[in-house]
Amino acid sequence: MTHNIPVNQNLVDMEYAVRGPIPHRAMDLQKEGHTIYACNIGNPQALKQKPISFYRQVVALLEASDNIQRERNLTKFAKNNSDVFEGSGINIIPTGIINYSEEFLHNCLTGMGAYTESQGPRFIREAISQFIDLRDKNDIASDPESIFLTDGASDAVRRILELLITGPHDGIMIPIPQYPLYSATVKRCGGVQVGYYPDEEKDWALTPDILEEVYQNATTQGVNVKCIVIINPGNPTGAILDKQSIDGVVNFVEKYDLSIIADEVYQENLYGGSFISMASAVGSRDISLFSLHSISKGFTGECGHRGGYMEIRNIPIMKDSNVNLSELLLKQASVSLCSNTVGQAIVYMMVKPPKTGSKPYNTYAEEKNVILRELETKAALIKESFKQMEGMECFGRTGAMYLFPRINSLPKDITDFDYCMRLLEETGICTVNGGGFGQQPGTSHLRIAFLPPVQSITRFLPDWIRFHNRFIKSPH
Ligand SMILES: Cc1ncc(COP(=O)(O)O)c(C=O)c1O
Repeated sequence: MTHNIPVNQNLVDMEYAVRGPIPHRAMDLQKEGHTIYACNIGNPQALKQKPISFYRQVVALLEASDNIQRERNLTKFAKNNSDVFEGSGINIIPTGIINYSEEFLHNCLTGMGAYTESQGPRFIREAISQFIDLRDKNDIASDPESIFLTDGASDAVRRILELLITGPHDGIMIPIPQYPLYSATVKRCGGVQVGYYPDEEKDWALTPDILEEVYQNATTQGVNVKCIVIINPGNPTGAILDKQSIDGVVNFVEKYDLSIIADEVYQENLYGGSFISMASAVGSRDISLFSLHSISKGFTGECGHRGGYMEIRNIPIMKDSNVNLSELLLKQASVSLCSNTVGQAIVYMMVKPPKTGSKPYNTYAEEKNVILRELETKAALIKESFKQMEGMECFGRTGAMYLFPRINSLPKDITDFDYCMRLLEETGICTVNGGGFGQQPGTSHLRIAFLPPVQSITRFLPDWIRFHNRFIKSPH
């Protein structure tokens, strides 16, 4: 039987290249027995990044809280019988972890299986505020009442855009190239994407002229620009924004009374510069700011657990209306009752790691360091290999988990999609073509996520170099 049920056209029009035709082809090739190097997506643990033990040990105890006393007894027993346990392979949970878990359960009262406050438990929001204040050393303290826990940053983006986009003339400025979550969510909410192009050759910097021109063009075409999205460090470019660019954004936004969405999910992934948060740049200025963070990235890598938060400063006030946007955000959160509690717990651990100097801290710090240094090594290895690929140029102070080289040498009529598809078919390296993120017309790029183990990267790089130098001369 057929039904003629019209569906939401915004959903039909939505696109998401990261899981588009190239990764689909990769899945088919894998089923046929080919080795695939999944460099198309920032999903660290799918590529063998080890979870931080602290997070997993605490989550295990939170979920099986009846075992806490047993673990405590075991830890005590192990201390007095070290000869029995040494080399036994039995994992003894340190007392510090057991205490941490108990304290968490004491604070959250209702345990892991109950709905929490829609905004997220107050003690977690307080810990987030302390984390932000420590990071930014701002004059204006972060307010736990302006923090919402979310099921990852994607959830936060959907909530914010749903709030800001009121109709087909409302415009959201997004960087091009961009992480397709933004184009997709703007489309889904029925707004207009207003793309701005950071200056690639200046390490993806932003200048007032770039923003001004795009804003003026959009306004002339009748678009009501409401907000600008800043992704720092960037996806797909991986670039860390410099202070001048960030200050320029703040001045621009203040001039036109726009809001900022600061997507800062990669704030821990820094290999070529330091991170400046948008909240610290805004300081005491009266600018509406939605800042996002997530447990998916950094060294945390807990994508599947879906946790994050948004912090709002200077919530927009709607002219000629008595609608209160804070109340609206709370209502919006209430409709889905609460974000998931394991995600909430990992957010808490992300912002409140074990105390410096404690046994759990030493393990945590070591694991964190290993992950970040490996990422740095992998990025450097790939960047270095571009020098052996004719016409391959890569700009930006490296951050996040991505490199976004420009392929200057493609023959006429060959697109970056063709390049990436052939690269996949001939070498197993699965990347995403620049066109999937948007790019300056006439340019070609690809995005590579540098997450596979070092051994895999060193194995595939010579194949890629060979493929590249042959393909650009003879693509057929
Ligand atoms: C810039 C950026 N923002 C948001 C997200 C989504 O993060 P989450 O897993 O927290 O939803 C990603 C994921 O790759 C991202 O790259």
